[in-house]
Amino acid sequence: MANGLIEEVDRINDIIQGLLSFAKPSSLQLENVDLNTLLDQSVRFITNTASKKQVKVNCKFAAEEVKIYADPGQLKQVFLNILMNAIHAIDNGGEINIDVDSRASSNLLSVGNAEQTITFRDNGKGIPKESLEKIFDPFFTTKQDGTGLGLSISYSIINCHGGDINIESTPGNGTSVMIKLPITN
Ligand SMILES: Nc1ncnc2c1ncn2[C@@H]1O[C@H](COP(=O)(O)OP(=O)(O)OP(=O)(O)O)[C@@H](O)[C@H]1O
Ligand SMILES: [Mg+2]
Repeated sequence: MANGLIEEVDRINDIIQGLLSFAKPSSLQLENVDLNTLLDQSVRFITNTASKKQVKVNCKFAAEEVKIYADPGQLKQVFLNILMNAIHAIDNGGEINIDVDSRASSNLLSVGNAEQTITFRDNGKGIPKESLEKIFDPFFTTKQDGTGLGLSISYSIINCHGGDINIESTPGNGTSVMIKLPITN
C-alpha cells in the first residue's frame, strides 16, 4: 500500500518534471563534451533494465574522441528516452544498435558545419504509419503509463543544439532514430 503510494508520487513527480521542461526548456548549460562518453554513460544507466528483458545493446562508437559543444545533462535525457523507448518496443530478447558515424561530415567543406550522426536502431515491434506522424506531438503515447512527452522534449532539446532528429520505422521489423549534431573542432 505505502509502496504503491510512493511509486505513484514518483510517477506524478516525473510527469510534473516533464511538463515543466516541456513548458520552459531550461537554458542550455553548454560545454565541450565527448559524445562517446555521454553515450557510454547513458547505456550504463539502462544496462540493468535491458538485461532483465534480454535486450542486447551493441555500441559502435567512433574510434576517436568526438567533441561536441552541448549540454551533457539534456543530451543524456534524450539518449535515455530513446533507449527506454527501444526497450519498451522489444517484447523479450532483441537488440539495440548504437552507431556513431564519424564519416558523416565527409561531404562538408567547412569544419564549422561538420556534423555527427548517431543512430539508435532496435528490432522491436516498430511504429505504424498513423502513429509515426504523431510521434513528436506532446502527449502522444501508446503506453498505459507513458506521458508522451519523451520525444517532444527530445525534439526541442536537439533543436536547441542546432541539430536534427528523425525516426524511420517498419512495423514488425524495428525502428531507427537518427540524431544529427554539429561537431566542434
Ligand atoms: N523505438 C520505438 N519503437 C516503437 N514505438 C516507439 C519507439 N519510440 C517511440 N515509440 C512510440 O512513440 C510514442 C511516443 O514516445 P515518447 O517517448 O514521446 O512517449 P512515451 O515513451 O509514450 O512516454 P514517456 O517517454 O513520456 O514515458 C510511444 O508511446 C510509442 O508508441
Ligand atoms: Mg518515451
